Amino acid sequence: MEKKNIDWANIGFGYMPTDYRFVANYKDGAWDEGELTTDANITISECAGVLQYAQTCFEGMKAYTTEDGHIVVFRPDLNASRMADSCRRLEMPVFPEDKFVEAIEKVVAANEAFVPPFGSGATLYIRPYMFGSDPVIGVKPANEYQFRIFTTPVGPYFKEGAKPITIRVSDYDRAAPRGTGNIKAGLNYAMSLYPIMEAHRQGFDENMYLDPATRTKVEETGGANFIFITKDGKVVTPKSDSILPSITRRSLVYVAKEYLGLEVEEREVLFDEVKDFAECGLCGTAAVISPVGKIYDHGNEICFPSGMEKMGPVIQKLYDTLTGIQMGHIEAPEGWIKVIK
Ligand code: PLP
Ligand code: COI
Repeated sequence: MEKKNIDWANIGFGYMPTDYRFVANYKDGAWDEGELTTDANITISECAGVLQYAQTCFEGMKAYTTEDGHIVVFRPDLNASRMADSCRRLEMPVFPEDKFVEAIEKVVAANEAFVPPFGSGATLYIRPYMFGSDPVIGVKPANEYQFRIFTTPVGPYFKEGAKPITIRVSDYDRAAPRGTGNIKAGLNYAMSLYPIMEAHRQGFDENMYLDPATRTKVEETGGANFIFITKDGKVVTPKSDSILPSITRRSLVYVAKEYLGLEVEEREVLFDEVKDFAECGLCGTAAVISPVGKIYDHGNEICFPSGMEKMGPVIQKLYDTLTGIQMGHIEAPEGWIKVIK
């Protein structure tokens, strides 16, 4: 299979249409079989549920080329089950989890020419999403839905790549207690657009959101969970019912314990403790693990001892082990790697 002529090493995190996408439709209470299509455009009613009341959710995962030339996807079954949770919370029909994984396989295989080569630094980002497509004017769920998956080759999420970033503590909240912070609803991201643009205007890369009820605990950023490393080498990651259960974070917790023999604490993390940590990183599919060098909090700066030049040593080990598993040169735990071809 001849790869597309793309400057893999220099692509950012953007949208580049690929040849095929998957589309399935829900009508009269049932999903159709779904199919691949080359048409990247969607025509829907002006009154579609997604346009009026934001009835939409999505997922994100990646396909990788391994060192020995296979194309693999990392833990798509967890994305299938998280999307099912999102759908239930938004009164949308679940796309069956086994069919979700099959559709991922189909769409990645069909776009093989766009899966970046091993060692290029790029990957194929996979974006499944669902939305209410028929007219809704009273506030209620749609009757018809579309489930789609497109793919796009991507490079690093932050322009700094693997260099540490600077974030600020946001004055805006991300997700209410007992709200929708624990699902991947489009509305969670719409509300983050103003704070992220404000952060950028002030020269920061991202926002740290605190818990809205007390504003004393660390939640997450707009698109990734936090991991911290203590001065004695423990991994600490915030536990909260209003953050997205990151698949990367859950995988890192396992890697830290089982591969690296590190102690891990998943617990509430007070913002007051943050200044005492040795390293900080953002973890997610897009972010992988992006090191944080500095946190700005209303005139005060927290500068991690790991500095602004490179990842701290423990985060580097976690990064190397996780990406080693994803790229196939470190043996993966059972069931983590779905081989496409
Ligand atoms: N938190 C938020 C708000 C996200 O959007 C994402 C991205 O998916 C994550 C965390 C990381 O989750 P995952 O590791 O499953 O990609
Ligand atoms: C992902 O990591 O897959 C996400 O959905 C995060 C998004 C901000 C790009």
